[in-house]
Amino acid sequence: MKSLQDKVAIITGASRGIGRAIASVFAAQGARLVLTAKENLDALKDFQKAKIMKLDLSDRRLICSLAEETIKEFGRIDILVNNAGILEQADFESISETDLDTILNVDFKGPFLLTQKVFAQMKKQKKGKIIFIASGAGKIGSSKASHYAAAKSAIISLTKSLAKLGGPYNINVNAIAPGFIGTDMIITMLSEKREFIESSIPLKRIGDVSEIAGPALFLAQDDSDYITGQTICVDGGHCMV
Ligand code: NAI
Repeated sequence: MKSLQDKVAIITGASRGIGRAIASVFAAQGARLVLTAKENLDALKDFQKAKIMKLDLSDRRLICSLAEETIKEFGRIDILVNNAGILEQADFESISETDLDTILNVDFKGPFLLTQKVFAQMKKQKKGKIIFIASGAGKIGSSKASHYAAAKSAIISLTKSLAKLGGPYNINVNAIAPGFIGTDMIITMLSEKREFIESSIPLKRIGDVSEIAGPALFLAQDDSDYITGQTICVDGGHCMV
């Protein structure tokens, strides 16, 4: 039997990059998928059996309807992958309050509110798997994206809190902290300083989206039932402390 056979999984930000790679491996393992994107929903139409929903993580109404419609249609939520996110590079002193709100809304508050809704359902089921896609920046900080790094640190903290709260209900809550992964998010950075970045990574290369999808699959499967509250760094050794 496939490892996620008939499990209902929500994956946010699945139109491209890491989210899309996770959606592909989950689909191959038999999951029933609810996939979201902020725009370009057409990019998801090759996932023929998936339910596709528009989601802007700064819109509370869309967050609520994602959780509610999933429960209405499938009756349960087995897995939530909080993947969608945005990165903005900016010097600390030039970050405006609006920039700060934008990053915090999408990278922290939105995933927090969505998880609140899903967590309540998983408590009723007495089972669930929640996976956050954090960032190495949330562990070691970032001089070029301090607001993003702070939001991702908050996600790592939330992972631990929810692991404590979810434990009695068989809800596993873990995070993955990717290092540099070759997606649109860091395309400009890579075109400007790929060699420098690669030289700073112990494994001397940028990661591939499939290298995040594999660990996400592991955290979604029963194999990881005794793992909770952890942040797994998948970064070629870049963020080790
Ligand atoms: P990406 O930019 O390729 O894809 C981001 C996805 O998020 C897209 O599907 C987009 O539609 C969605 N999205 C963007 N803004 C949104 C909003 N306001 N509401 C809802 N959805 C929204 O990015 P990538 O690289 O695939 O990133 C996925 C996750 O991995 C993010 O949380 C990111 O912070 C994290 N990450 C990525 C790294 C990298 O090197 N690519 C490194 C560390 C963490």
